Amino acid sequence: PTGLSSLSTRITSSSFIALKNTQYFCKNLFRIFSLQALFVILLQQIACMGFLEEIKRRRTFGIISHPDAGKTTLTEKLLLFGGAIQEAGAVKSNKIKKGATSDFMEIERQRGISVATSVLAFVYKDKKINILDTPGHKDFAEDTFRTLTAVDSVIVVIDVAKGVEEQTEKLVEVCRMRKIPIIVFINKLDREGKDAFDLMDEVEQKLGLKVTPLSVPIGMGYDFKGIYNIWERNIQLFQDESKQTIGKKEHFESLDDPGLEAEIGSTRLKNLKEELELIKGVYPTFDQQEYLDGNLQPVLFGSALNNFGVQELLNCFIEIAPKPLAKQSDTRLVEPDDEKFAGFVFKIHANMDPNHRDRLAFIKIVSGTFERNKPYHHVRLKKKLKFSSPNAFFAEKKQIVDISYPGDIVGLHDTGNFKIGDTLTAGDILQFKGIPSFSPEHFRFINNNDPLKAKQLAKGIDQLMDEGVAQLFTLNLNGRKVIGTVGALQFEVIQYRLLHEYGAKCSFENLNVHKACWIEANTESDDFKEFQRIKQKFLAKDKSGKLVFLADSAFSLQMTQDKYRDIQFHNTSEF
Ligand code: G4P
Repeated sequence: PTGLSSLSTRITSSSFIALKNTQYFCKNLFRIFSLQALFVILLQQIACMGFLEEIKRRRTFGIISHPDAGKTTLTEKLLLFGGAIQEAGAVKSNKIKKGATSDFMEIERQRGISVATSVLAFVYKDKKINILDTPGHKDFAEDTFRTLTAVDSVIVVIDVAKGVEEQTEKLVEVCRMRKIPIIVFINKLDREGKDAFDLMDEVEQKLGLKVTPLSVPIGMGYDFKGIYNIWERNIQLFQDESKQTIGKKEHFESLDDPGLEAEIGSTRLKNLKEELELIKGVYPTFDQQEYLDGNLQPVLFGSALNNFGVQELLNCFIEIAPKPLAKQSDTRLVEPDDEKFAGFVFKIHANMDPNHRDRLAFIKIVSGTFERNKPYHHVRLKKKLKFSSPNAFFAEKKQIVDISYPGDIVGLHDTGNFKIGDTLTAGDILQFKGIPSFSPEHFRFINNNDPLKAKQLAKGIDQLMDEGVAQLFTLNLNGRKVIGTVGALQFEVIQYRLLHEYGAKCSFENLNVHKACWIEANTESDDFKEFQRIKQKFLAKDKSGKLVFLADSAFSLQMTQDKYRDIQFHNTSEF
């Protein structure tokens, strides 16, 4: 019994030790796990903070102007100040030179360049700046409208001598409709031009903006002495030199600096003081929220060619311009700090190499992070896609990137999966809104000139339309295909590309259409049935099958609208 009891004591004590050990082990394990969990949480938090910081430091914007106002020059100078290029001239203009209405070879050559210049990114004072290129040529206005869906703000460039021009009016109208924050940059102050105050009046009247100057020019043209920077409260004197690199400018901190009077003369100094008083009395004080809400537009002056006023513009821009904004989808407002990725295609660029018919789809990241080799959901096609080489754009180069953040643009190689307006997500079923088609200005029938190549022609048309080169309408009556474009130039581009990229010969035949209107109606109503019967000849389907009325004149459109009051005639495809 003693032996037994000692055995049992030993067993008890050894099981006690084992229990203790297990407890100890568990405790440690628990500690390790909780430490690990803590560590993981900490890492997640750091990543989340990093993610939020990345969003905060991004500024994605577009520069818009009438051709020749100086958009390309300004873009280049911004890159110069951002340290992305060392000398102006490194970024080639992708604008189609004036008068090139029939020079599509030039367009082809430039198309190659514009892939690289579609997005120009650089870092300035720790802000990641993405400039989205917008073609200035009016025949490519549709492209510009679409690009504007991907920007969070814009800078409008106006030529001091020419003032507000037609193309600027159209583009600003789109920005105003969407409440995009706008900064106005009045360029070419080294040339004789309109009076600064008259010009600001013109901007208010023609563009429907409410402006407030953040700088004032001192003189103009031959007499251009410099700029008083209201934003930074200092004065820069103009020296017409070192256009290609960043030169040092003479700079005064105060209007009372005795050196300033010596430089600009007492009369000019007196005028400047009066003008500043006038500004205080007449224009509203700058209010960032009003600017962000699209209700107030700051104006700055300068000369892009002379690097003058550009850095001041950039300094002001990074402080006031919005970080990536939320975007409306059909189901909800998608916020940039939503951790799940969502983005949309706003531009498709055909590859220049005719042997590889792949394209580059430009995606604006709206929320979450976009990661290389991660599967994403293509909402329209309902399928998962993975991308092994997403491109990011730095200055004029493109590079493969592993991770991109809201506000960034990635270029994805595409073999025909994407259309403009497509949404890509981490799994959510949603579709971003706001990439409508507008009525084209020119309409022509497209005819196949080589019956053996009908398939190639159909495929070519299909893909060019996906790229947004033009719009396709199919007549209800006989199925004939009508191409609608913003400018006459696109017909040449289409013909050339169909032949060179798809081996399909086509010709165009004039068609008298004034405007395409998208129809919204109760299809069961007698009114609609009558409209359909009477206007049969003028009805067509757009590429997504929506009903469109091709009115042959403004008069007939008006008459039709007056007659069928229950039918809505929309100017854009999104209503
Ligand atoms: P865009 O992209 O808006 O079409 O205009 P771009 O920058 O190409 O400028 C159009 C013309 O205006 C260019 O001259 C450019 O040098 C000039 N320019 C731009 N900014 C200024 C400025 O601040 N002052 C003056 N005086 N001129 C300016 P170009 O002769 O058409 O072309 P280029 O031969 O100089 O390239």
